[in-house]
Amino acid sequence: MENSDSKMKEKLNSRNGSLTVVGMGIQFVSHLTLGAKACIEQADKVLYALADPVTAKWLKELNPTAEALPYNTDNQRRKDTYQEMADRILTEVRQELNVCAVFYGHPGVFADPAHAAMKQVRHAGFPAQMFPGISAEDCLFADLGIDPGRNGCQSFEATDFLIRRRRFDTGSALILWQIGMLGNLGFYQPGKHFYPLTILTEELEKHYEADHEVIVYEAAVYYPVCQPVIQRTPLSKLPQSNVTQVSTLCVPPKDLAPVDREMMARLGIVLPKNLQEKQVYNGVL
Ligand SMILES: C[S@@+](CC[C@H](N)C(=O)[O-])C[C@H]1O[C@@H](n2cnc3c(N)ncnc32)[C@H](O)[C@@H]1O
Repeated sequence: MENSDSKMKEKLNSRNGSLTVVGMGIQFVSHLTLGAKACIEQADKVLYALADPVTAKWLKELNPTAEALPYNTDNQRRKDTYQEMADRILTEVRQELNVCAVFYGHPGVFADPAHAAMKQVRHAGFPAQMFPGISAEDCLFADLGIDPGRNGCQSFEATDFLIRRRRFDTGSALILWQIGMLGNLGFYQPGKHFYPLTILTEELEKHYEADHEVIVYEAAVYYPVCQPVIQRTPLSKLPQSNVTQVSTLCVPPKDLAPVDREMMARLGIVLPKNLQEKQVYNGVL
């Protein structure tokens, strides 16, 4: 028995086939890391999930095996479509090919099919690795000048945030992804009236003033030809803002979290006499 187990392991180890998952970043080509580019060039098979046809064309020039992952919008739930994508990736790896799967942004950030594929491929006994990429949130930090190290930062998927009634800290930035897909478990329909934004606004108004400034953000995809779209609006006017499939909401902190003097004493932190408590920022005394 032990012998047949080790033979099986040996067989698995001697098989070719692997998965590398990489991210294209948000901006056309300029966000692609050198490591990700090399993986794409060297792969036996490239599969991609990219909404942008220009990037897809560029990818095919880099590696002619590049092919779009199936994106079946006939499914009621996009979860099922994501599973079909992961299955397709595994099918290619099972052919003993070194597969490179390309997703936009960071391939591990809000990317169910990428994580599912990694899990399935490893479970089937093949090696799988993921390279990080530049996500929409990385662009947001740069374009909006928000440093998560200053007051902290919380990220949630917008529908998940509402239906799980996620607890959050109004002293830290709050980032809500997929606000254009609120309550939608299927697929994006352009021009649909975003009625659920009023529900999100009502919920946020329980924690922030109606005039608290929020930002509907879209990073530029073709910089420098296009600029990021940054819509600043009072929270109460959020339902009137122009929201698309790629909009992310940023709610800046409303106040500074107070420091716990007892904890500071335990950590050996002494506040200089001339410094007001409200001047005490995370990591900066
Ligand atoms: C399925 S997630 C993909 C995220 C992607 N993997 C990343 O790393 O940014 C889609 C969501 O990402 C955010 N997003 C994607 N592109 C964006 C852009 N150009 N600007 C701002 N947010 C974006 C939006 O919240 C959108 O609904």
